[in-house]
Amino acid sequence: MTNVKQKKKYLLYMVQVHTNFRRAELESLADLYNIDIDFATYSEDSPFFYVELDSDDVARDWIKRSILTRAIYEYWGDGKTLEELHESIKSQPFIEHYKQIYKNDSFKFEFENYRGGSNKYSTKDRIKQIESFGYLQFEGKIDLKKAKQVYTLIEQYEPISDNIAGEKPTHFIFGRLVQTSNRRSVEKFDLKKRPYKGTTSFEAELSLISCNIAQVKFGSFMYDPFAGTGSFLVAGGHFGALVFGSDIDGRMIRGRSLNENISSNFKHYDDSNKFLDVMTMDFTHNALRSNLVIDTILCDPPYGIRESIKVLGARDPERFVGKENIEIDGEKAYLRKDYIPTKKPISLDLLLDDLLNFASERLPINGRLAFWMPTANDENIETIVPLHSHLELKYNCVQEFNKWSRRLLVYINRGPSFNGPTNNGTKRSTTNFRERYFSNFN
Ligand SMILES: C[S@@+](CC[C@H](N)C(=O)[O-])C[C@H]1O[C@@H](n2cnc3c(N)ncnc32)[C@H](O)[C@@H]1O
Repeated sequence: MTNVKQKKKYLLYMVQVHTNFRRAELESLADLYNIDIDFATYSEDSPFFYVELDSDDVARDWIKRSILTRAIYEYWGDGKTLEELHESIKSQPFIEHYKQIYKNDSFKFEFENYRGGSNKYSTKDRIKQIESFGYLQFEGKIDLKKAKQVYTLIEQYEPISDNIAGEKPTHFIFGRLVQTSNRRSVEKFDLKKRPYKGTTSFEAELSLISCNIAQVKFGSFMYDPFAGTGSFLVAGGHFGALVFGSDIDGRMIRGRSLNENISSNFKHYDDSNKFLDVMTMDFTHNALRSNLVIDTILCDPPYGIRESIKVLGARDPERFVGKENIEIDGEKAYLRKDYIPTKKPISLDLLLDDLLNFASERLPINGRLAFWMPTANDENIETIVPLHSHLELKYNCVQEFNKWSRRLLVYINRGPSFNGPTNNGTKRSTTNFRERYFSNFN
């Protein structure tokens, strides 16, 4: 006898924001937990995605840390009207089985609506609706606080115009809640409520999404080489990684005071045990030992908007010939604590080349590098994404603004045998993003 495990049908209810990033997040989380998902019916235009999965545990794993979904439900039925919905539920082959399993569990009903505006139903209407499900014959007690099973009626509306919601739902879906997503963390990590932040801080939602697409794992080691105020570090810590950052600007790393620095942010989120440390360091002169394996690299390199991109070194090295021996109070000047090293400008191309080279050397096979890169939306200028022969470019997710965009580039280290295309060491950008930004892209 073959033992083929029957899959169950689930409904994934997603959010209609950052849809360019949504599939990448869902795929990355599925891959992280070894879950096979058929995306054939997935559409960016819809918040609903029906999937077949092995079990509730698989559904929970997949969705528990997702940011761009709301929840996943065991599917019970759907229809254009409430009557059609009831007929659909009654006709499902699995329904008698489901009724038996959950019969004695405490339960409650919840209502969700998609594009319906504020709730149009009175409590009395809702009670009537709940009673119309009487044929399900639940015998458990109703528990509004700690119900074991939460049944959800999702109502979908077609808006009459951009600002006017439809009068009545045009579609009803009914299911048993299996797992809510991690979307509430977007509010928890909202920059407005963060003790230490600055002009470079990266918004919470996309920081968390970046961690998911980069597959930042519990107990792994994550590094942000351009840490600034540590936005990606706190997001990585939230997902259980041990995080470490560096930045050429010591002021960013140190913060404003004892209560306003990266470490105090971790305290605020009760994640101090995830924060390894930060250090002042030029990424291109990296001091991390070369055999240190870094599971994930996630960052937001300098765009050169507020200041030009700088690395340690002299613009005119001739000027410094012979000066390395200068001493102050018997100590070599460059070894003193108050020594401020000279810096020289570098192009974004060269910095990103360094980042890809570093990732190819330090990431384990299948480890991910994810970083944000800005681009001007000039029609006549092609965006050339950096490529490295060991790294597979897995995602290129674009966030569009009016005249510019930024993209999250995600690479997987496949090692030397991958032999992929490369443009490392070539000049790729034909425009200076900083100049275009300050000329308002005109
Ligand atoms: C776009 S910001 C990143 C901000 C960060 N994500 C945050 O949450 O604040 C880029 C950062 O790179 C740093 N940086 C610039 N050049 C660098 C270099 N050569 N090495 C390391 N950090 C550098 C800047 O000081 C700045 O903090």
